[in-house]
Amino acid sequence: MVEEELQQLREEALKEIESLSNLEDLNVFRLKYLGKKGGLTGYLKKLKDLPLEEKKRIGSILNELKDQLEILLAEKEQEILFKQEDVLTGLDLSLPGRRPSLGGLHPLTQIIQEICEVFGRLGFDVVQGPEVETEYYNFTALNIPEWHPARDMQATFYLKNGAILRTHTSPIQIRTMLERKPPLRIIAPGKVYRCDDDVRHSPMFHQIEGLMVDKEVSFSDLKGVLTYFAKEVFGERTKVRFRPSYFPFTEPSVEMDISCVICSGKGCRVCSETGWLEILGAGMVHPEVFRSVNYDISLWQGFAFGLGIERIAMIKYEIDDIRLFFDNHLYFLECFK
Ligand code: DAH
Repeated sequence: MVEEELQQLREEALKEIESLSNLEDLNVFRLKYLGKKGGLTGYLKKLKDLPLEEKKRIGSILNELKDQLEILLAEKEQEILFKQEDVLTGLDLSLPGRRPSLGGLHPLTQIIQEICEVFGRLGFDVVQGPEVETEYYNFTALNIPEWHPARDMQATFYLKNGAILRTHTSPIQIRTMLERKPPLRIIAPGKVYRCDDDVRHSPMFHQIEGLMVDKEVSFSDLKGVLTYFAKEVFGERTKVRFRPSYFPFTEPSVEMDISCVICSGKGCRVCSETGWLEILGAGMVHPEVFRSVNYDISLWQGFAFGLGIERIAMIKYEIDDIRLFFDNHLYFLECFK
């Protein structure tokens, strides 16, 4: 009997809650069912006259119903409050927020920052130099005299006033040594220009130059520093090897290879089946270079290196067309956020 009545009460109450649309009606409803003289309270008062068993059964139904109504009322109240806000402000405050779309750093900028950080931990300062250079800083002071065939190794852009666009970041070595006294450790990131354009070459690209000068700097220091760099950037398991090479401004000169990041040295298309990828040129600073900046070669020794950022990024991110870095397509750039 009582159970049936309560079931009916529940159904009515639920229907009524559903139709509530303002706070006044909501309060009227609350009094009607849950207030001191409300419907549920009436039943609760009658409980004491019932036999124990029934008291327990009906009591728990009543409590459950009371909880249910309170929860539904609280939800309804929120809904009504939100709607009121909407009318006042014209906004639907219950909608999830729209995330602002943030920009990200260009992948080349990220690599430059990462490499500068790695060398920063070894005490290297970041320095810069001009992109418009003289032939003297770009070539002559680096032991590449006018008649030297190495001038043709890098197809140079000549400007009308006799200046050039720097073909590498190496002139920053000269400028820094003239400005500072040894000992010094610097790295110099920047744009360089060569008359070259295909899937691997862009007429403008980026290099990082490194230079360390001190009283006792040996080829072992060069190997140690560059091996640390390779492992930091490409992973602890990366292997390196040094091959003899030639640069006019270093003697001896080397090129450094890392074990292929794709096949770990087994041989694949990316490393032309060799297991190795060339990533930089380096060597011990040539005495002629020290002479051109008036460093006493009986006191000072040093090593230098230069690497192409795009090449590092292409290897690290497995990108096979250099032009992607400069097309600025969002779908490409957003991969690096
Ligand atoms: N400047 C060279 C180039 O652009 C790279 C390079 C090689 C820089 C050896 C160095 C070095 O400082 O020691 O190809």
